[in-house]
Amino acid sequence: MSIREIITLPNSILRKKARKVRAFTPELQMLIDDMIETMREAPGVGLAAPQVNVSQRVIVIEFAEPSDDEEPAPKLYVLINPEIVRHSKETTTDQEGCLSVPGYVGEVDRFSTLTVKGRNRHGKPVRIKAKDWLARILQHEIDHLDGVLYIDRANQVWRLEELEQQANEAGAASEAI
Ligand code: NI
Repeated sequence: MSIREIITLPNSILRKKARKVRAFTPELQMLIDDMIETMREAPGVGLAAPQVNVSQRVIVIEFAEPSDDEEPAPKLYVLINPEIVRHSKETTTDQEGCLSVPGYVGEVDRFSTLTVKGRNRHGKPVRIKAKDWLARILQHEIDHLDGVLYIDRANQVWRLEELEQQANEAGAASEAI
């Protein structure tokens, strides 16, 4: 496994529609392992293949859903060719950032709940029902596969520096996806 370089704007690969994965090859397995390691090292809670300069429909997410446990265990999701198959009408507004748009954070409306289907790393069909932050991360990562960045959807975008100067915002936007 190795850590790959995370590309940032204005690299045009971030704006391309990524290709569907058709074969579950050893190269794909290596890409997935590298993406997991790269996401952890960043650190981030999600990463899409175009962010490591590979225009294929692959995303990884590692996120601990809030629970009654004091330290909920993070869960790893690897999704190939993910698609949103249903979503709530209701949306939730929150702040998000992106490893490919360093130094900024934005306020984005996302569907509150959704169902995503795709394949796991071995090609088996999977379906994920998600809400809240996991739903947000999935939407953010699937957007990356279509060349869409959160700044395209944001109601407002701030420089992280400015935000950090506002003491009441401390702790916000600590997770980059
Ligand atoms: Ni991102």
